[in-house]
Amino acid sequence: MHTNKPLELNANENSLGMSDSAKQAVTNALDVGFRYPDNPRAALIAKVAEINGVTENQVSLGNGSSENIRAVVQMLQNQALKDGRKFQLVVPDPTFSCAELYANYIGAPVVKVPLTAENYDLDFQNLQKSADEFDGVSLFYLCNPNNPTATITSTPKLKMWVDTAPENHYFLLDEAYSEYVTDPSFESGVEWVKQELSKNLIVVRTFSKLHALAGLRVGYAIANPQTIEAVEDFTSIDNTNLSGAVAALATLNDEAFLELSLRTTNQSRQMVEATLDELGLRYLPSQTNFILHEIKGDVKTYIDRMEDNGILVGREFPPITGFNRLTLSTFDEMKVFVEVLKSFRQKGWV
Ligand SMILES: Cc1ncc(COP(=O)(O)O)c(C=O)c1O
Repeated sequence: MHTNKPLELNANENSLGMSDSAKQAVTNALDVGFRYPDNPRAALIAKVAEINGVTENQVSLGNGSSENIRAVVQMLQNQALKDGRKFQLVVPDPTFSCAELYANYIGAPVVKVPLTAENYDLDFQNLQKSADEFDGVSLFYLCNPNNPTATITSTPKLKMWVDTAPENHYFLLDEAYSEYVTDPSFESGVEWVKQELSKNLIVVRTFSKLHALAGLRVGYAIANPQTIEAVEDFTSIDNTNLSGAVAALATLNDEAFLELSLRTTNQSRQMVEATLDELGLRYLPSQTNFILHEIKGDVKTYIDRMEDNGILVGREFPPITGFNRLTLSTFDEMKVFVEVLKSFRQKGWV
């Protein structure tokens, strides 16, 4: 099937679209668009603090969580320089590239530690080793669940690591997809911030996925008050604008939409997994709104063929070759994808 507008299953957005309550909130807010957004921002901070069970001074809003990520990288580099210490970023490979890109822009060295070959898990030993061998401050950027694998990291292992790390090791846990996790063993780093497990821990979250607000750019960081204060030196003032603040607040209060959003992704995941099982294509156990699955062929060719059929799929993430990242969209859109994938099988393309 070929529609005029391609299906966008490539950027892990939420194709359900913004909730009606968020659209209404933005429309209503237009009347006060000439004012600075202090009040809606304050209301959003209060709500974010409430749902996470932290105090308001433990929350920093971001213009998308990418801004929070950038601010954390910059803050730690700056702090290290002031203390006459070196700074490096340590990331698993592959992972979401934002932290690495920002580190590159500010000239901070980046160490990339490949995921384990057996199950694409964090290589704890080598991650730690790269920091232990470094004479300075290390920041680990860890995405949990990870993008692009869609898998979670073992909670006991991660918690133990954060708990026992030395004072010069910092952790930036990116939980952009945490709302989708179904594995009961998962524990959010926000809990560890609350338990004061480590003063070197920052957790970032976003409204771009489950809440379907990617275009309005709202995210946040949670950490202890001192760290939040330091991070805020590197975010711009009023970074979350009026529309983003009111839309995020309305969505958080819209339980029916959040339930629908989660249910939609879960249904789509079930359908896609059933199809992949039927076709004998392997995939990693998805705990997110996307899935990394096998192609059995050249991924670039597969991407082009999907595009010819009106579907934009994600890309390959070396060193994991032969797999493609697919965003789980609405049930109807995934039905179209499944039909096309099955037709590819008939042609011997997957
Ligand atoms: C792991 C991860 N973190 C952050 C983001 C970006 O979030 P935001 O839109 O809040 O900047 C993404 C987007 O795909 C992501 O996959």
